[in-house]
Amino acid sequence: MRENTGPHQVAVIPGDGIGLEVIEAALAVLRATRVPLEFQRYQAGDECLKKQGAALPPATLAGALAAEAVLFGAVGDTAAEVILRLRRELNTFVNLRPTRAFPGVDCLYPELKLVIVRENTEGLYGGLENEITPGVVTAMRVITQRASERIARFAFEYALRNGFGQVTAIHKANVLQKSDGLFLRAARAVAAEYPQIGYQEALVDSTAMNLVLRPERFQILLTPNLFGDILSDLVAGLVGGLGLCPSANLGDDHALFEPVHGSAPDIAGQNIANPTAAILCGAMLLRHFGELPSAEWVEKALEGTITAGQTTSDLGGSLSTTEMTQIGRAAWRERA
Ligand code: NAI
Ligand code: MG
Repeated sequence: MRENTGPHQVAVIPGDGIGLEVIEAALAVLRATRVPLEFQRYQAGDECLKKQGAALPPATLAGALAAEAVLFGAVGDTAAEVILRLRRELNTFVNLRPTRAFPGVDCLYPELKLVIVRENTEGLYGGLENEITPGVVTAMRVITQRASERIARFAFEYALRNGFGQVTAIHKANVLQKSDGLFLRAARAVAAEYPQIGYQEALVDSTAMNLVLRPERFQILLTPNLFGDILSDLVAGLVGGLGLCPSANLGDDHALFEPVHGSAPDIAGQNIANPTAAILCGAMLLRHFGELPSAEWVEKALEGTITAGQTTSDLGGSLSTTEMTQIGRAAWRERA
């Protein structure tokens, strides 16, 4: 993060569908904290492509690169052109997805706390697809020693700093012997440097089953890009849905915060999307700027709101996005 004496500069990219609605909610809560933040809005996504002819216009990319942090909503079918490109351009090599259950939410695992640390720059997400002849398409899966080591080190450091005792490397090295073999070797080498943190390895397919049957076996899942994407939606399902799950894309020079969910066209425009994931992204952004008390208050206010059953319909409540946000915001004000 660069030196800054004035307000923190945050680029806001709401995107499409419920991205617009949940980012409004996150901004309302962030403003209520009175932490000095300056928001600059940018366009991206499906609608932007229609209007401006580009899903990620140069001004948006430049704004994201210049800002101290980015708050991103979601885009629709242009996700590969927008969010994957942003992650690459900002060199955010970590995709951090902390998931927790909230008291009072009817879900499979009301006590669950689990973190996915997903490699964010390579794997199958490099956009290296090729139609070699009509009817035959290849996709290149790139795994490098450098990126694997870097993400493994982040997972162990995160475990250390946040009181976790174990990291599980997720792989399919029985089939993808060379690529996931390399990923595992890098993870093992890093694990050896952290004897105080337990280390285990698990195949991605059986992990999908074990996450449903006995998720308490896991604390931090260290994954290549695609597996982390898929398993994080599975984990969301264990705690009550995608409306609850935030994420941070982190690199040496940039940070981009976004809900795990997409633009949800099935509920977009109805003011019924759960704003929790986006508001938790706001809390992660506050933490990133070292504003720990404000971040904690936002999380506590949200928890109080959810525990009191004052939620959107995905969690069984009857509130709109804006109503839930206002109640959470009022709870924050009382605390403050
Ligand atoms: P999705 O995450 O948008 O929705 C999956 C399901 O979860 C839907 O039934 C939706 O209504 C529900 N849901 C998601 N967020 C919710 C919230 N905050 N509150 C209540 N319910 C919520 O994933 P889907 O349907 O697979 O993709 C829709 C579009 O989003 C696609 O065009 C996809 O490319 C895009 N997408 C974009 C992402 C991004 O911008 N980072 C990430 C994932 C998908
Ligand atoms: Mg996903």
